[in-house]
Amino acid sequence: MCGIVGYIGKREALPILMDGLRRLEYRGYDSAGVAVLNGDLHVVKAVGKIASLDQALSDLTIPGTNGIAHTRWATHGVPSEENAHPHIDCHGKIALVHNGIIENYSELRESLKVAGHIFRSETDTEVLVHLVEHLLNFPGTTLADAVRSAVRRIRGTYGIAAFRLLEPEQIVVARLGSPIVLGVGDGEMLVASDANAIIGHTRQVVFLDDGEMAVLTADGYRVSSLDNLPVKKSPEQIDWNVEDAQKNGYAHFMLKEMHEQPEVMRNSTRGRLDVTNGNAILGGLRDVADRTREIDRLIIVGCGSAYFAAQVGEYMLEEYAGIPVEVELASEFRYRKPIITARTAVLAVSQSGETADTLAAIREAKMKGALTLGIVNAVGSTIARETDAGVYNHAGPEMGVASTKAFLSQATVFALLTLFLGRQRQMSVTTGTRIAEELARIPDLVAGLLARQDEYRTVAEKYSWAKDFFYLGRKYCAPLAFEGALKLKEVSYIHAEGYGAGEMKHGPIALIDETFPSIVLCPEDSVYEKTKSCIEELRARRGKVIAITTEGNQEIRQIADDVIFIPKTLEMLTPLLAIIPLQLFAYHMSVLRGFDPDRPRNLAKSVTVE
Ligand code: F6R
Repeated sequence: MCGIVGYIGKREALPILMDGLRRLEYRGYDSAGVAVLNGDLHVVKAVGKIASLDQALSDLTIPGTNGIAHTRWATHGVPSEENAHPHIDCHGKIALVHNGIIENYSELRESLKVAGHIFRSETDTEVLVHLVEHLLNFPGTTLADAVRSAVRRIRGTYGIAAFRLLEPEQIVVARLGSPIVLGVGDGEMLVASDANAIIGHTRQVVFLDDGEMAVLTADGYRVSSLDNLPVKKSPEQIDWNVEDAQKNGYAHFMLKEMHEQPEVMRNSTRGRLDVTNGNAILGGLRDVADRTREIDRLIIVGCGSAYFAAQVGEYMLEEYAGIPVEVELASEFRYRKPIITARTAVLAVSQSGETADTLAAIREAKMKGALTLGIVNAVGSTIARETDAGVYNHAGPEMGVASTKAFLSQATVFALLTLFLGRQRQMSVTTGTRIAEELARIPDLVAGLLARQDEYRTVAEKYSWAKDFFYLGRKYCAPLAFEGALKLKEVSYIHAEGYGAGEMKHGPIALIDETFPSIVLCPEDSVYEKTKSCIEELRARRGKVIAITTEGNQEIRQIADDVIFIPKTLEMLTPLLAIIPLQLFAYHMSVLRGFDPDRPRNLAKSVTVE
């Protein structure tokens, strides 16, 4: 989604802004632009990749130590230079970048047109810069005053950075529903919508909260509320570095992040597994432990892969912790009338911690009095801050648009949560210890599966002709079927549908013929015989089958066209292994078909609009 970078200090702004934009590329965008102040306001924009913006800048010299920049993911208006940010006022004296959506932009636009403002783009954002221009007409008004009044008149969400020729020593930023992080340097300040854009310059950051704005100068920052009351905010230290956000020799972030998974799992479980007591030590839940003991229902909300990880969690929690669990699409939850009692907890699962639908669901739950919890990867993100308590994944920054290591770490944290909530209830120490011991073994098994990636590439090559795939699994493997299909769709643009294997015979099997292969998750678990029957049914209709089963199972070889083996583990932990071939299969399919798996078309990494 859209990205913001800004710089004010002693150094040349342009190289810092361009570097920041490159670091935001992973989020998905379709145009980009920069604005720099140096006695004049210079704005350069380009459609397409950052390389096109580089090209547009190549013959220009734009010195200046104050600048803002943006990557745009189109919502209102096609990707074009006019629609790209920064947007400027009628006289080219104010520039503004914006993430989010202004819902009442049409009415504002009409009234500003009547007041004589000339619009150049089709975007909702442009009304903001004209509104600021309009408000600056009132004598004595500063840019900060005008931005404050402007945002009070809009409905919708925003993360904004703006500056002005007549007040060249500052950048004004504001936030409601779209993240803004300030980077505190030595004689310089940075701003971004995502810390990745600025950690190369400083790891001291300040996260703005909704309803806050800030004025940045080279010497520091001043945060205030929209009522212009000062807000005291001290910088915090970010604990990951630039290398974590680079490819380190891998062809793609997606590949690098899949290969990081053994380490990610170790990080997610480090210091948290109490094998002796068959428990998990979750510091983030310590303060609410009395409340989690009392809850009699858990609603888990998330989107996309996080939603599927939540379904894995649902099976674990119901089987071992004995808590009734419902998993809801966050985008549905807030528009229903969810029944929430004082003993309901609502748990948000989110890699970015900024997904608009998930955040809205958590706010709704909080308003209804639920205990709100989070499983979040991005430290300091909005969901992490707004939930009552939670557990961080510790997966490090995920740059690949398609979630891989975040999914695995979410499932891992669900296993920990199962121990924690299970031991607060009826789970015996013996059961807890068995789960904890097995969980500790999984990172090595994951490493073993990753080492066999050539096998998965060979299977992808064999089926690269296919235009459709079914992904089928039952019980713990049903959510994996959904996740596997999502991965293939996202990065290789092949039509893929995930189904519970038992559901095939209720309709989807009508599609099966020799051109419609299925990937069937069929480990030797409690539903093995049932899933095996599904394979037989597919074969009877000439469907090709790639089976994923447990090492040593020769029986499946007789009925499947291709077999991928995974090690034996506890049934509840099978998803943590079976996901690896699914991820790598999707990756190789993407590369074989000539696509860039890190930049899937139409997708954004963090979906901060509804
Ligand atoms: C899929 C994917 C998305 C995200 C979803 C939620 O590969 O990455 O489906 O899982 O947009 O994002 P977060 O976890 O940031 O809330």
